[in-house]
Amino acid sequence: MVLNDDQKAMLDGKMGKGAAYAMKIQVSIGEAFDAPRMVPITRAHVALSNQEGDTWFAEKLYNAGARCRIAPTVNPGFCLAHFDKNSKHPVSEEDAALMRRTDAAYRGLGAILSYNCTPYLASNVPNFGEVCAFSESSATPYVNAVWGARSNRESANSALCAAVSGYVPEYGLLLDENRKGNILVHVEAEMKSPYEYHCLGMMGDKIGEGIPVFVGLPKYISPESLRNLGAQLNTSGAYGMFHIVGFTPEAPTLEAAFGGKKPEREVVITDQDFREFEEKFSDETNNGKIDFAMFGCPHFTLKEAMYIAKKIEGKKLAVPMYILVSCAADEMAQRMGVKDVLTAAGAELIPDTCADEPCWHYLKGKVGITESPKCAYYPRRRNIHFVIRDLDTCIESALTGEVK
Ligand code: F3S
Repeated sequence: MVLNDDQKAMLDGKMGKGAAYAMKIQVSIGEAFDAPRMVPITRAHVALSNQEGDTWFAEKLYNAGARCRIAPTVNPGFCLAHFDKNSKHPVSEEDAALMRRTDAAYRGLGAILSYNCTPYLASNVPNFGEVCAFSESSATPYVNAVWGARSNRESANSALCAAVSGYVPEYGLLLDENRKGNILVHVEAEMKSPYEYHCLGMMGDKIGEGIPVFVGLPKYISPESLRNLGAQLNTSGAYGMFHIVGFTPEAPTLEAAFGGKKPEREVVITDQDFREFEEKFSDETNNGKIDFAMFGCPHFTLKEAMYIAKKIEGKKLAVPMYILVSCAADEMAQRMGVKDVLTAAGAELIPDTCADEPCWHYLKGKVGITESPKCAYYPRRRNIHFVIRDLDTCIESALTGEVK
């Protein structure tokens, strides 16, 4: 791999041990992928997990003197104010201590403490062609497919190294030839709301490995729907890129999406596929009863919070409802009185928090309802279970306490 003077100096430790460590990891990744050189990045997003291994790594870099050249946004951990030991949902001292360590490490490294998993919608939005280092399942396909920026599917650790060094090895989705589609996906299912894009993303088994090119989708597709598609493509499989013909910037035509080649495979997705997935992926309930509802995995937008507020205004929920959002959406919902409406009905708008965090320990053994398969997938390891339905059905179910 050919390195420039700045990169060599960093690797040789002339900019400190922490920066050298980050560069060494980046160079090793590049060598593994036969990258000829390193290229500068202008943005990064680190999918911190607030788990011991991730925090250990961030502390290791910080203690070795590393500081971010490119301040990355970061994924949610859990909101200490909301889950404080004196709050309605107290966490153990051990869990709170880990969150404080995570916060301190990323603060010290110079990260933007956004604690949000949808930065590509508001706080960290790349331009077309911009080279970035994005980790997080919904983030990488969004910046590649929707914004036409260029990022490989970084891990939290490699994205952090990129933020520290300011470079990524040039390989994979950074190169034109690796961004073309190879699977033609005919969508015959009715795509009525963002929920169906969750379902479409969960078709990874049927779509198979590669870059899908979707045809048959509506002319306008909302940011929430595109967010859901990417999130679930990386729950059911591993996809850094997709194309929607006539919609995403690198797919003005079918020919452009495939780079003039023929698709290697064609797949048809129907309503029946979605119904089968819904049944297969939902957990058992106790006679149709649910204990709670959870939304915002990935984080809900202000628009979605407003939508729920409108549906439950003046009513009382039969079970608790948790809506995970960015701190910006939370603040705006407070200013607009949306949060008051939600709170009066029994819903909680929670900023900075991920569905897969130890703060949800009190839901252990319970069955909730959600519109997000990813929300159902990860908390299973914590013995928290979910039924999956579209958002309207979830809201109606939360009002009665039973799956509609
Ligand atoms: Fe976001 Fe955590 Fe879900 S990072 S997408 S809330 S698993």
